[in-house]
Amino acid sequence: MKQLKHAFAIALVAAAQLSLSNSADAQFSSKPEAVAPYAATLTVVVDAMLKLADVGPDDFVVDLGSGDGRIVIAAATRFKARRGLGVDIEPNLVKFSSDSAAQAGVADRVKFREEDLFKTDVSEATVVTVYLLPRAMPPLEQKLLAELKPGTRVVVQDYPFPTWRAERVVELKTPDKETSAGLPYAQLYLYKVPARK
Ligand SMILES: C[S@@+](CC[C@H](N)C(=O)[O-])C[C@H]1O[C@@H](n2cnc3c(N)ncnc32)[C@H](O)[C@@H]1O
Repeated sequence: MKQLKHAFAIALVAAAQLSLSNSADAQFSSKPEAVAPYAATLTVVVDAMLKLADVGPDDFVVDLGSGDGRIVIAAATRFKARRGLGVDIEPNLVKFSSDSAAQAGVADRVKFREEDLFKTDVSEATVVTVYLLPRAMPPLEQKLLAELKPGTRVVVQDYPFPTWRAERVVELKTPDKETSAGLPYAQLYLYKVPARK
């Protein structure tokens, strides 16, 4: 119940926030494949997610539902990831992200595509980041376990996978997030893809 309340909070508050945002003009998409509205992760949480995944120069970071591109761009700039990919169904967010990557000087290593995240080939990723609503998590868990290589790290914000056991859970107090997502904290879950049996 608590989670559902949070899910509604993120959907409603984020949708309300969008019209106020100057950085990207998105809405809860009317596309049938939409599994979350646009709500940008706070910078302090972005850094905590990438730190939790221990992102470094060997990594290919994929953000599924990449919004304004901040997680993938931070991975390439501040954490020196060798490669990044963000996918989003909203073309204006994809364009904004590509422009930001160019401005940050990482357009050669970081790409953004307009795509349904459930169709993205994630098999080459070494780190995957996720900030979506609870309804996305059961099918996404199945997809990631089927496609990712053993040892791949997956960091999820707020809504965990239903059966996959997290290696670590970190909670950050984030009063600023209350206005953008209805929660005064961020809960981060680190998963590692298990070895195949
Ligand atoms: C909560 S926002 C997270 C944005 C970004 N990852 C961040 O943490 O700042 C979720 C994003 O997922 C996108 N999205 C929703 N359903 C999608 C789908 N089926 N395929 C790709 N993107 C999707 C939305 O457009 C939105 O930008």
